[in-house]
Amino acid sequence: MDNDRHDRKDGPAILFLCLGNICRSPLAEGAARAAFDAAGIAATLDSAGTGDWHVGRPPDARAQAEARRRGVDIGTLCARQLVPEDFTRFDLILAADDQNLCDARAIEPPAATARLMLMLDLVPGRAGESVADPYYGDDGGFAATWADVSAVAAALVSAFASSG
Ligand code: 4NP
Repeated sequence: MDNDRHDRKDGPAILFLCLGNICRSPLAEGAARAAFDAAGIAATLDSAGTGDWHVGRPPDARAQAEARRRGVDIGTLCARQLVPEDFTRFDLILAADDQNLCDARAIEPPAATARLMLMLDLVPGRAGESVADPYYGDDGGFAATWADVSAVAAALVSAFASSG
């Protein structure tokens, strides 16, 4: 028995992945947490970045403000970098864009059990699309990110609601 692997009664274990873990993936984690809570479905949710520049920091203030506008507090999240163990701790690793996918594959261990895919692959009609990086843009980019990650969260909840 692998103690590192989460218990099934805790629901699916899902890791959201982006570059810095301060904009897209913490917003995705916050949106998913709110959606799973609202649906009454247990899940283990976390986020990480492929890069290490922001490790230990809270989400970008603009991302926190966007989440707050939607009634979600992501201010207690703390950036961390993706590690090979994540590929056995999680069932699903959802990347924001193709570069994140590529960088994740570079450290994927042979024993990986997690399914690795793009976040928007889960959203009907949006497979293969990226969640655009809002970091260098204006605040409108964060609203677009929230719309994307909310669609991902809704798709996850309906998938896991129907799979029991
Ligand atoms: P994220 O956004 O990957 O959505 O967290 C970024 C955060 C930081 C940087 C780039 C993207 N950066 O270059 O520091």
